[in-house]
Amino acid sequence: MNILVTGGAGYIGSHICVELIEAGHNVIVIDDFSNSKPEVLGYIRDITGRDVKFYEFNILDEEKTERVFQENQIDSIIHCAAFKAVGESVIKPIEYYTNNLTTTLIMTKMMRDYHVKNIVFSSSATVYGDPETVPLTEESRLGETTNPYGTSKAMMERILTDVQHAYKDMSVTLLRYFNPIGAHASGLIGEDPKGIPNNLMPYIMKVATGELPCLGVFGDDYDTSDGTGVRDYIHVVDLAKGHVLAIEKYTEPGVHICNLGTGKGYSVLEIVKTFEKVNGVKVNYEIKARRPGDIATCYADPTRAKQQLGWVAEKTLDDMCRDTWNFAKKQTCDK
Ligand code: WQD
Repeated sequence: MNILVTGGAGYIGSHICVELIEAGHNVIVIDDFSNSKPEVLGYIRDITGRDVKFYEFNILDEEKTERVFQENQIDSIIHCAAFKAVGESVIKPIEYYTNNLTTTLIMTKMMRDYHVKNIVFSSSATVYGDPETVPLTEESRLGETTNPYGTSKAMMERILTDVQHAYKDMSVTLLRYFNPIGAHASGLIGEDPKGIPNNLMPYIMKVATGELPCLGVFGDDYDTSDGTGVRDYIHVVDLAKGHVLAIEKYTEPGVHICNLGTGKGYSVLEIVKTFEKVNGVKVNYEIKARRPGDIATCYADPTRAKQQLGWVAEKTLDDMCRDTWNFAKKQTCDK
């Protein structure tokens, strides 16, 4: 299949490109490098031995986007391009909504006009809000989102759902990610956010390399085993494999919703301890106040992914920590 991956140079998008190529697909990427680097395209080639066809621009540029659809016979889309920094979205809601919603609308317009029947969307467990019960199934009630980033994901889901209802021969798949971490085993691609990271694993990585002095653990008084927040961390390569299966198997018209998580929750301190143990490094931390908007516990019920896609997360927390560190060391050597 010819598959367009929007945001294909990004952290998750680049791993998806690798898995798609390894499964025999042709990959076309649109990315504006707003949160990624051009080198990633070379790394995808180094890993797979194949090139992606690449276009550099923001999808808000509708004319350029349309040209991609004119020049290529696109069979399916994996839509990852979006602004994703939670904290920044609170400060720049207009930019976040404009970018995330308009690019999604433009994608759906192109699908309609160029008869593309299949889209897989990068959604997030954030759409469940503060869960009443865990594990979260796809039937769990959608919750109040606490920042414009999360709200934009919920709204993008809604846009795609409404479009599918109007164009009934489309297949729309909403993949709700839990907490993707880790990196490709090659150490060539991974998560290297610009500036000070918001998310736990990139922060731990930068404390371990000495780039940042100390991790702040946001709260130790939650109702969890050790008082720190519990999340369902999923290896980014497992996540990427889930996309390949989703694009191949969710071809029936309709809206398909699927959680991608492991079904296991780990606390912040468990992540810190595992990272230290697996990699033989020290991660300094101190307990800080709770971060506004955080919830105590969130993990998936991944039954549907297993039943409908034959997908289960295969990698362990040790793998996630090891691969993150392997990536970090490669980055430091290259700098
Ligand atoms: C995980 C745990 C923190 C940083 C967010 C978005 C979600 C998705 C992933 C992204 C929590 C704790 C974190 C730190 C800490 N979107 N923590 N110190 O909040 O589950 O999800 O990121 O693109 O939509 O909401 O992930 O990695 O930020 O936090 O103690 O410096 O680590 O409190 O318990 P989260 P996270």
